[in-house]
Amino acid sequence: MSKTARLEVNGQTLEMPTIVGTEQECGIDISSLRSTTGCITLDDGYGNTGSCQSAVTFIDGEKGILRYRGIPIEELAESSTFVETAYLLIYGHLPTLPELQRFSKMLTQYENLHEDMKYHFEGFPTNAHPMAILSAMINASSCYYSDVMERPTRENFDIHAARLLSQVRTIAAFSYRKSRGLPIIYPKPKYRYTANFLHMLFSDVYQDYEPPPEVVRALALIFILHADHEQNCSTSTVRMVASSQANLFASAAAGVCALWGPLHGGANQRVIEMLADIHKSGDDGSRFIAAAKEKNSGKRLMGFGHRVYKNYDPRARILKKASDELFESLKLDDPQLAIAKKLEEAALSDSYFIERKLYPNVDFYSGIIMRALNIPTEMFTVIFAIGRMPGWIAHYKEMLDDPKARIYRPRQIYVGQTINHYVPIDKRTGKAG
Ligand code: ACO
Repeated sequence: MSKTARLEVNGQTLEMPTIVGTEQECGIDISSLRSTTGCITLDDGYGNTGSCQSAVTFIDGEKGILRYRGIPIEELAESSTFVETAYLLIYGHLPTLPELQRFSKMLTQYENLHEDMKYHFEGFPTNAHPMAILSAMINASSCYYSDVMERPTRENFDIHAARLLSQVRTIAAFSYRKSRGLPIIYPKPKYRYTANFLHMLFSDVYQDYEPPPEVVRALALIFILHADHEQNCSTSTVRMVASSQANLFASAAAGVCALWGPLHGGANQRVIEMLADIHKSGDDGSRFIAAAKEKNSGKRLMGFGHRVYKNYDPRARILKKASDELFESLKLDDPQLAIAKKLEEAALSDSYFIERKLYPNVDFYSGIIMRALNIPTEMFTVIFAIGRMPGWIAHYKEMLDDPKARIYRPRQIYVGQTINHYVPIDKRTGKAG
């Protein structure tokens, strides 16, 4: 059903078509707004702005629904592998066996970094945050493949997509080894995607780390659940950079930087730090909840709240169950899991959180699982970045395939000084204005 929106502004009535998505979400096409009325829209934080039409991921935040290419996240979490999910996101359909075999073969073929890249790692201080190394090294990768620097094409896309997806975990593992002063461990073709990453992280030079299957499965699940989340901050950044026709590696490196912040992917590290602080202080969580509700305390309940989900994040639900299963099968006990559950229970029955529709998000339980897998806290957001790579690549491809793709260039409402004139230095008063 096509609807028309009407807007009266500056004495004019503008009729604007609406665009209805396959899940009945409605957008008002304002593309003629400025040329007709001279006005633009202003939408702080883009809470009401659709930046594109996309066929990759669907979220219904009110109902707590997440689907990749139409497939519910619960089904993928239950039955898929990370590599298969990555293929689904990037190419739009579940792969046939030959397609999956070809894709997996490419991931193995391109898993090694260019040998000269090893020297870059030596330039970073040992205490460098691995997210800084990850973004720098992904960006640096483009220097080694001359065709990636040219205008991206569909022909070279498949190779570079496989290279990036495969090498992101090699870079991530190398940066961790570097931060611990440990020798680099090269990938081994005999291991599958997630096991290979764990091998590069934790093997010794003289002995391979053989992770228990539940460890591999738990990490693969984290990768799958993070693989895409439509137009979030980092994916929008990737699309923003890609819109200038920057190469895939440069666009993904920008995505890593956007992901790093504590309001986005960096929250998983902050959740564990918060839980550790609560534990250390002897608080059962109630003092922290009280502080998180207090605006001037500078505290927030990390891992709670989401711009889109106004219901339980389906990924958090899956991870909560997975953490229970993992702890049981590895016979682990972590006081932080108990604190997290207590915080959740308290928050979900507190009017502050209920009224604002603040529920646990994906970061609330992912850190507890990663801690159980012995992944160091500073690597948590890196793990998120590895998981999110298929999504970034899928969105990059979506733009590459769109003949009508334009450079992203928002406008602004200027609120600065009106015309002002240059003053020679000896006549300046130092006052603004
Ligand atoms: N703890 C306490 N209060 C919160 C929290 C929280 N975690 N999240 C939001 N609020 C409050 C805000 O103070 C605000 O209250 P007010 O209406 O009285 O002013 C209200 O809820 C709305 O919050 P906003 O910040 O306006 O919501 P927004 O959509 O801009 O932010 C965000 C969403 C950034 C995720 C926020 O909920 C937050 O900071 N959460 C903690 C950090 C976090 O977990 N980030 C990970 C997000 S998921 C991801 O990126 C993978």
